[in-house]
Amino acid sequence: MSTLDRFEIHEHDVLVIGAGGAGLRAAIEASASGASVGLVCKSLLGKAHTVMAEGGVAAAVANVDKQDNWQTHYKDTIKGGKFLNNWRMAQLHAQESPERVLELERWGALFDRTQDGKILQRPFGGHSYKRLCHVGDRTGLEMIRTLQDRGVHLGINVYMECTITKLLKDDGKISGAFGYWRENGRFVIFKAKSIILATGGVGKAYKVTSNSWEYTADGQVLAYHAGAEFLDTEFIQFHPTGMIWPPGVIGILVTEAVRGEGGILTNREGFRFMQKYDPERMELSTRDVVARAIYTENKEGRGTPHGGAFLDISHKGADYIKKKLPSMYHQFKELADVDITTGPMEVGPTCHYSMGGLRVDAETTSTSVPGLFACGEVAAGLHGANRLGGNSLSDLLVFGRRAGVHAAEYSKKNSTLRKINEQDLQQAEKEMTRFFENEGENPYMVHQDLQELMHNYVGIFRTEDDLKYAIENLKKLKDRAKTVKIDGSRMYNPGWHMAYDLQSMILYSEAIAKCAIQRKESRGAHSRIDYPNTDPECGKWNSIVKKSSDGEMIVEKMQLTEMPQDLKKLFEEKELIKK
Ligand code: FUM
Repeated sequence: MSTLDRFEIHEHDVLVIGAGGAGLRAAIEASASGASVGLVCKSLLGKAHTVMAEGGVAAAVANVDKQDNWQTHYKDTIKGGKFLNNWRMAQLHAQESPERVLELERWGALFDRTQDGKILQRPFGGHSYKRLCHVGDRTGLEMIRTLQDRGVHLGINVYMECTITKLLKDDGKISGAFGYWRENGRFVIFKAKSIILATGGVGKAYKVTSNSWEYTADGQVLAYHAGAEFLDTEFIQFHPTGMIWPPGVIGILVTEAVRGEGGILTNREGFRFMQKYDPERMELSTRDVVARAIYTENKEGRGTPHGGAFLDISHKGADYIKKKLPSMYHQFKELADVDITTGPMEVGPTCHYSMGGLRVDAETTSTSVPGLFACGEVAAGLHGANRLGGNSLSDLLVFGRRAGVHAAEYSKKNSTLRKINEQDLQQAEKEMTRFFENEGENPYMVHQDLQELMHNYVGIFRTEDDLKYAIENLKKLKDRAKTVKIDGSRMYNPGWHMAYDLQSMILYSEAIAKCAIQRKESRGAHSRIDYPNTDPECGKWNSIVKKSSDGEMIVEKMQLTEMPQDLKKLFEEKELIKK
C-alpha cells in the first residue's frame, strides 16, 4: 500500500486556505470561472478577523464628499504607508475598490444609506474625505455574511475546522496540501492545481491583540517553507483603541468609527492630547500616530487608571450612538458595565494587523512559488509602513477577486493534478506526530513567554538592544517549542494544535524582529527610539525574508520600483522630497 492510500484525499482545481473575506472573495471568483474550488478553514466558516474591521470599507464612491476620487484614495494610501507601498497594488486598490463595494451591494450587503438612498460614508483616520462605506459598526460582519451566502450558493466545497500544516510541491510547482481535522486529529490531503493562501495575520504572537486564536501566521510560514518570500515584516499595526478593562477583555477592538463619528480622546488630566501630536487631524490622525500618542501619555504619567486614554462619544447623545455604534454600546455595557452614551470608555493600543506578509505580484497575487497565490492580510505590499483603517476590507475584495481569477487561470493552463511525493507526506506526518514523543514543557507556557517577549521588546517602540534581546530569546523559544510535550491522543487536543501554531508564530516573530533591526529609522508603524527620524535612504527599499538552502533565515533589502510619472504628479513636490 502506498503512503497516499492511508489518507483521506480531496481533489480540486483551486484550493483556498482561509475563509475570511479574502478567501471567500477568491473562492467566489474562482468558482464563478468554472473551477472546482475547495475552501479550507481552521475555524468555523464566518469566524474571521474580517469582522474586526467594524467601521467601514474604504472606497472612493464619492456619495457624501463629491470631490473624492481614486486618485485621492491612492494618495492617502501611499502617504499613510509612508511611500513604502507597492505603487501598483495601491493604484489597483484605489481604482477597483468602488466597483467591488457596489458589487457586494448587488449581492445583498445592506449598507447604511444617505438621504437620497446611496451608500453612506464616514470619515476615518488618514482619509481626506468621508470614504468609509459602512453598516453601523458591523461592516466586516455584513461583508462576511454576504460573501458566505454567495459562496455557499455557488456550491463551493467548504472544509471546516481543518488545519493545513504543509504545502506539497512536485517539480517545484504546487501539487497540494497536507493537514488534519482539528476534531479527531486525522490527517487529510488536498490535491490541487493551484492554492490561494488567505489565512490572515499573526496577532496571537502578541500579548494584547484584537486577533482571536486563529491568527498565528499559518499561511506566511507554510509559504516560506515552500520557497516564498516575506516582505516588510517589521510593520505591525497597533490599533490605538482596544479595550483595556476588565482584564478578561483586554485587546478587544473599539472601532475607529467611534472617532469617525466624533469621539474625543483625553488623558487623565482631561487634556485633549492629540493637539500635541497631530493638531490638524486630531483624533483622525493615522493609527500609528494615535497609538504612539496614547502610549506616550501613559509612559509620561498621564494615563487613565487602567493605563490608557479616555474616549468619549457621549456628547452625541444616546439615540445617535445606539444607531451608529450599536455594537460598541452593547460591547461596553455587557463586558465592562460602562454606558458609553453617558460617559467615556477607557482604551489603549492593541495589536491589530500585519502590514508585512508574503511578497506577491500586484496584478495576479502570485508568490514566487508556481501555483501559489496569496491575498488579504497574509499578503503584503499594498499598505506599506502603515495601513489606513478600512483599507483592509477593500484590499480583500480587490485582491481576493484577483487571486481567484489568476489561480483559476493557472489551474486551467496546468490542467492535470501533479504528483504527491510520498516522502513529503511521511515528513509532514512525522512533523505533527513527533510532539507526542517529546519530554519538554506545556506549549501554553511557551506561547505566554512569546507573547510577553513580543509585547515588551518588539512592540510600539523599539531599540537595537531590545530587538537583539528579542532575537536571542526567540532562539530559546524556538528550541523550547521544538520539544513541547503533548499528552493524550490527536483527538480533541488543543495542546497539540498550539504545539503546531507555536512553530509558525515563533518563525514569523523572528522575521519581524530581524527586519525591525535592519530598518534603522522610524517610519509608519515602525518606531525606533534610537533612530527617531525617517531616513529618505531607507525609503528606497523594502525588507525581504527568505529561507536559504540550508534552512537559515536570510534578511535582505530590495529596491522599490519607481512610481511612474503620472502617479508621482499626484503628489506635491515637498511630499516627495520628505519621503
Ligand atoms: O476600527 C475599525 O473599525 C477597524 C477597521 C480596520 O481595521 O480596517
